[in-house]
Amino acid sequence: MKKALLTLATVFLFLGNVNAQLPKETAEQKTERMKWWTEARFGMFCHWGLYAMPARHEWVRSNEKITDEDYQKYFELYNPDLFQPKEWARMAKEAGMKYFVITAKHHEGFCNWDSKFTDYKITNTPFKRDALKEVADAMRAEGIKVGFYYSLIDWHHPDFTLDQFHPLKPSNNPAKMDSINKTRDMNKYRTYIKNQVTELLTNYGEISLIWFDFSYKEKGQNEWASEDLLKTVRKLQPKILVNNRLDLNKVEGGWDFVTPEQYVPAKWPEVDGKQVPWESCQTFSGSWGYYRDEKNWKSPNQLIAMLIENVSKGGNLLLNVGPTARGYLDYRTESALKAMGDWMKYNSPSIYGCTQAPNEYKVPANCLYTFNPTTKRLYLHLINYPMGKIVLPEMQGKVKYAQFLHDDSEIKFIGKSTHQPDSEKVAGELVLALPVNKPNVEIAVIELIMN
Ligand code: GLC
Repeated sequence: MKKALLTLATVFLFLGNVNAQLPKETAEQKTERMKWWTEARFGMFCHWGLYAMPARHEWVRSNEKITDEDYQKYFELYNPDLFQPKEWARMAKEAGMKYFVITAKHHEGFCNWDSKFTDYKITNTPFKRDALKEVADAMRAEGIKVGFYYSLIDWHHPDFTLDQFHPLKPSNNPAKMDSINKTRDMNKYRTYIKNQVTELLTNYGEISLIWFDFSYKEKGQNEWASEDLLKTVRKLQPKILVNNRLDLNKVEGGWDFVTPEQYVPAKWPEVDGKQVPWESCQTFSGSWGYYRDEKNWKSPNQLIAMLIENVSKGGNLLLNVGPTARGYLDYRTESALKAMGDWMKYNSPSIYGCTQAPNEYKVPANCLYTFNPTTKRLYLHLINYPMGKIVLPEMQGKVKYAQFLHDDSEIKFIGKSTHQPDSEKVAGELVLALPVNKPNVEIAVIELIMN
């Protein structure tokens, strides 16, 4: 009995220790750790791997149930001869992006770095170079923070068990799937994950963010050994930010921000009734990897409005590029980034360091507000440029001065005027006079200096 109790006590002690190893921090400490990211608001996501060659979705292996043998041709031919990481960094910087998150490994299992733990890596292709190292250095040289995306899923690793997404899943034959899975050992795969993540967070300098992807019905925290993995991450890079896809949503310190994908949330996302840090990830055209024939590219106006909308709800935008198999960003990507940059060049003060505006400011129709809590300036984005004036409800007496953000040109308050018949006036509103023609910016922004 005594022995049993002792054993129990040891188990609890052990469990206690395990928990104690996930670093504790106060809400203020977390806010401070996340400050650079919260202020940055805009980052570049980058999905790049062998799937750039078939050029028809990064899930092509799963979608078309391609065998290892048939997928091998991409590996043998992979040679992105036009890869110029300095160009990527220049384009990200000019677009106004402050951080960069690249797929170290996506679900196909191919590694963009010289990993000791696999042969399935870029340095074994005809290309031979460690792309991850080069691009991380190039980004940092431009002052852009570097993060890695790491796929928890791996369709190449022999010990990763088959599941609903796996390209080798036998159709309608659960018995066959079970018997194949008996030959696979997720323990070994877990060790592989841990080794690789350790490698990535040890040999590549300061890594500001890690983006794990993803947990689902068959696989979650147990399959990834998420808690243990996260402890390793926090130990190796104590300041790192971690997304919420390790399936540790209920664990204290198990994630730093939530990640709505391909949609903008209706309002600032909450967990247990509290607003949480968030970042939506978005594509230009639907897929993440380079997709030659995809036609549904978003317009510059949509992309810029999306960035503004994220910030207006207190969130970040991680906007994805899918470089070609030759290693460059194609003309569509280049022009989309250029359009973002043209707008950001003059209007970034309404993005960087900004967040959702205080509730007391009622948003006029077809507009979005952002707010800089440090300077207390309020930014009115005219998503749909109105005719001749803009009416701000309940704003009378609150605004000292108004100007266009892109050129600091004054915008006058309208008192009694022909712009607005008496019958349309509502008490307390403030009316601003606008030029009839929209200024030469995709979305015009008015900077309001408050009383
Ligand atoms: C999804 C997809 C993946 C993409 C990711 C980005 O989970 O599996 O292809 O990398 O979202 O958020």
